[in-house]
Amino acid sequence: MGNEKFVIQGLEGQRVLEGKASVRGAKNAALKAFAASILFDDEIQIDNTPLIQDIENISRLLKHLGVEVNQISERSFRLKPSSAIGADLSDDIAKSFRSSIVLSGPILAREGRVSFPHPGGCVIGERPIDIFLEAFEKMGAKAERDGERYVVSADRLTGAEIIFKIPSVTATETLMMAAVLTPGTTVLHNAATEPEIVALAEYLNASGAQISGAGTHTILIKGVDSLKSKEPFLTPPDRIEAGSLAILAAACGRDVEIINCCTDHLKVFLQALSNIGVNIQKTENSIRIKSSPQLKAIDIKTHEYPGIPTDLQSPLAVLMTQATGRSFIFETVFEGRLNWLNDLARMGADITICDPHRAFISGPTILRGREMESPDLRAGLAFIIAGLVAKGKSIIHNIYNIDRGYENIEERLAQIGADIKRV
Ligand code: EPZ
Repeated sequence: MGNEKFVIQGLEGQRVLEGKASVRGAKNAALKAFAASILFDDEIQIDNTPLIQDIENISRLLKHLGVEVNQISERSFRLKPSSAIGADLSDDIAKSFRSSIVLSGPILAREGRVSFPHPGGCVIGERPIDIFLEAFEKMGAKAERDGERYVVSADRLTGAEIIFKIPSVTATETLMMAAVLTPGTTVLHNAATEPEIVALAEYLNASGAQISGAGTHTILIKGVDSLKSKEPFLTPPDRIEAGSLAILAAACGRDVEIINCCTDHLKVFLQALSNIGVNIQKTENSIRIKSSPQLKAIDIKTHEYPGIPTDLQSPLAVLMTQATGRSFIFETVFEGRLNWLNDLARMGADITICDPHRAFISGPTILRGREMESPDLRAGLAFIIAGLVAKGKSIIHNIYNIDRGYENIEERLAQIGADIKRV
């Protein structure tokens, strides 16, 4: 697996891709539902699971802790925790993906103790975990360092008023899960509002939790004694995958329809795409993009939901290289997320990086195929789009980073006419 790479034959700016591309379940929703299994005594079922490396990672981590994980059909998994759950996250697996931190909430609530390494994942900035540790302490836990690991323990957790300094997605999910089985009322102020948080809260509520306000910046959780799984968690469509496919269609498509998505989750992004001049027809669950005569430069600012997701910044940058005029990116969420633009510039893009948060891209430019490393999941997909737009052949190494979040992406792109092979 480590040596696999994608070999892409560029389309030299021609817009020829055609057909339907189906969006899989959201990685960042399914992973949190897998973590939630620890809150239950009985078996839970997760449907529409994307078959990606990060799901394998969390399954390995959960098995290691004593959760049975069974794949019962192509995209459905059943998870059942044993009566005694381990409280120590395995170093090597937990370090390989950021969502491992989300397990800390349910394990702490259930076992009164959890230890874990600093979570890994995409290298897109410093990605501290201070918000998690401070919030656990507010609930009555003690957070300590033991060498490279964090140890959080509590004789008794209690509901608390928690004020996040930043609306962190995974901290919101982690604390929501910690509070569900904790006596008393917990209020999360300045909580993140992403649709994946709402999906998790709705599932927990359907299982007996008392969470209100998910999807707003104030979430109130009244602790309950136990949860009982009544219906499967249905993983919502991946809004980042849908948005990335829409960008690919805008850059290289003649007539591409993205199906099984939720356009309601992409309102601000789709508006930006339309401002660039992309010809979009949308329904509730599909986006059809036909070849647009000319793309125009645009200024974008990434933002927490419902703003333009930081995860769509890198594919949007590729589209900007094909638009006429000078575009501007203001990346407000992560300070390491513009670094990959240096590689895009090596492909021929006209890019000025002003500082870790701001860059200008002038276009249109002809990109040239190159050999490159996928630095993170989202920039990896952006390189695929750049490789398809470019003239000549591109080779992308380190595609583990792409497989972590996108299921068999090369097969789905080949179905709409892209020349991309895994070798
Ligand atoms: C989630 O990461 C997603 N990951 C990311 O997707 C996504 O880019 C990000 O949210 C923003 O939407 C998962 O859901 C697994 P944050 P997360 O905490 O939760 C700062 C992908 O490829 N911060 O909302 O880690 C942080 O540095 C990934 O799927 C602290 O300062 O992001 C950032 O500037 C990439 N202290 C800001 O908050 C903390 O303790 C928002 O990050 C935690 C975060």
